[in-house]
Amino acid sequence: MQIINMNNLNKTQIIQAAQILTDSIPIGWPILKHALDEIHELLTPKNTLLAAIEDDIVVGGGGILPAYNGNVFELHPLAVRSDKRRQGIGRAIVTALEDEARKQGGLTIHVGADDERGNGETSFANVDLYDDLPGKIISFSPGTHQSGFYLKLGYKIIGVMPDANGIGKPDIFLGKRLW
Ligand SMILES: CC(C)(COP(=O)(O)OP(=O)(O)OC[C@H]1O[C@@H](n2cnc3c(N)ncnc32)[C@H](O)[C@@H]1OP(=O)(O)O)[C@@H](O)C(=O)NCCC(=O)NCCS
Repeated sequence: MQIINMNNLNKTQIIQAAQILTDSIPIGWPILKHALDEIHELLTPKNTLLAAIEDDIVVGGGGILPAYNGNVFELHPLAVRSDKRRQGIGRAIVTALEDEARKQGGLTIHVGADDERGNGETSFANVDLYDDLPGKIISFSPGTHQSGFYLKLGYKIIGVMPDANGIGKPDIFLGKRLW
């Protein structure tokens, strides 16, 4: 597996990357065209998008977008092809994105991980996040949600947006120090 800049992907490979996005996060990008538009919009010189490639086929990808004068980078988007998960590809992409953010002078990297599927997956779903949020952060449980992946990679919960995706469906902000 190789990690390469998405600027170096050919048309077929860009479609493969977009297909992974729409398959993995259909709430965000319900159809392939939406995912393709997102990739094309994000492929500007200020952002960095990386793809994981196996035998010339894209198996995952992710990006970082600068904010706060370059002190902070948002990790967005991130997805690994469903049949290729739990093999270290997500970690490899995120590690490469963190290295890139650090190289560009970033101090913090963060991600917003929506708990929006079904009846909620984490202990933040369907509870009053205005009541003792610090206590709820201490006892946070990710369940099946992707926040478990970020916690494994050393990310900490740095905030929450209650009801971001409807009542009881928060966005969970996770961050990591880069220095
Ligand atoms: C989240 C995602 C990118 C992880 O990619 P991956 O290639 O499966 O992750 P890795 O194999 O590199 O996993 C790294 C570690 O995290 C763990 N992990 C992976 N997914 C996890 C999850 N959902 N919950 C808890 N732990 C998880 C792995 O077991 C591994 O732990 P280990 O080092 O102890 O073995 C992938 O599941 C995905 O594409 N999901 C759908 C899209 C998505 O949710 N994107 C994020 C939007 S915020």
